[in-house]
Amino acid sequence: MKALVLAGGAGTRLRPITHTSAKQLLPVANKPVLFYGLEAIAEADIIEVGIIVGDTAEEIREAVGDGAQFGLKVTYIPQEAPLGLAHAVSIAEEYLGGDDFVMYLGDNFVVGGIRDLVDAFRAERPTAQILLTRVDTPSAFGVAELDESGQVVGLEEKPVQPKSDMALVGIYLFTPAIHEAVRSIEPSWRGELEITDAIQWLIDQDRNVRSTAISGYWKDTGNADAILEVNRSVLDTLEPSVHGRVDDRSELIGRVVIEVGAEVSGSRIVGPAVIGEDTVIRDAYIGPYTSVSANCRIEQSEIEYSIVMRGSSVRGVRRVEASLIGRDVEVTPAPPIPAAHRLVLGDHSKVQISS
Ligand code: TTP
Repeated sequence: MKALVLAGGAGTRLRPITHTSAKQLLPVANKPVLFYGLEAIAEADIIEVGIIVGDTAEEIREAVGDGAQFGLKVTYIPQEAPLGLAHAVSIAEEYLGGDDFVMYLGDNFVVGGIRDLVDAFRAERPTAQILLTRVDTPSAFGVAELDESGQVVGLEEKPVQPKSDMALVGIYLFTPAIHEAVRSIEPSWRGELEITDAIQWLIDQDRNVRSTAISGYWKDTGNADAILEVNRSVLDTLEPSVHGRVDDRSELIGRVVIEVGAEVSGSRIVGPAVIGEDTVIRDAYIGPYTSVSANCRIEQSEIEYSIVMRGSSVRGVRRVEASLIGRDVEVTPAPPIPAAHRLVLGDHSKVQISS
């Protein structure tokens, strides 16, 4: 069995962060979200992994390498444009050959791994296996229609009028029959080859498409709120440890990780929180559910329920909450006179100002 991990795509919902970096590499508790997926694949005893890459190929290759750090053998499969999940399967057909495979969306996050699921698929080999979970806003997802026995009878991508609240989770298991399905479908109105259409084709051919409802935690980290929420849930499982320096005037409360080379002085950190390598926290308050990456500076500021990516600084600002701060960003106070906000924001930035 192989794995096909999708790490291309446009990432429009995470602009401007995705103008310069891959959304699959956004840090969750200071580790790229993609790494959690690769670890889950390795844990399911799958070794050969094809990774679909797009414009951010270079960055993904640099982070993942040949996969040895995960015990995997990685092959990169370039996709010329984000033409859909089924398009990704079609360009991987040669790599996948006659093998069964798990398709894993690189920005998806699932707690509890995929081992049991993969083992059950190996043993029973339905034509395809999809995972479903109940969501509040089904129209934002691929949605399954089920009959009374729980059998999938139809699938729709982002329906205006959803027929259920069961959304497709971004992990699919396929036998090679999916390739014929992918060859048989046409692009949708949005110009993409949809995996939901390919699976619908299998259903129409009376093939065995099995669904399992997962009750555990799953999130598509495609937008800022979702990534903050996933960060929260991962930080909740943190084992406290201090590998950096914390002075006597500082206080660490609860699950706090201080990574190597970090320096904390005159500050109060209330966990769960993680402070990255060589980061400086001075005269600051770091509140629960905050991840500060490597080489950052937080000074005379308060920050809570946020992610700060590497090389950024937050100085002299009263309070930052529920924020996603990209790499090499500077957040500083404006001079008191004139009382004005001064902004240098990239395309598609989002700012909420309390005044
Ligand atoms: P999506 O989140 O559905 O699409 P997107 O990355 O284009 O994001 P947005 O909707 O914000 O514009 O993609 C799910 C995952 O699959 C994600 O990791 C990107 C990846 N993907 C590909 O690798 N190739 C593709 O053609 C598509 C559509 C997605």
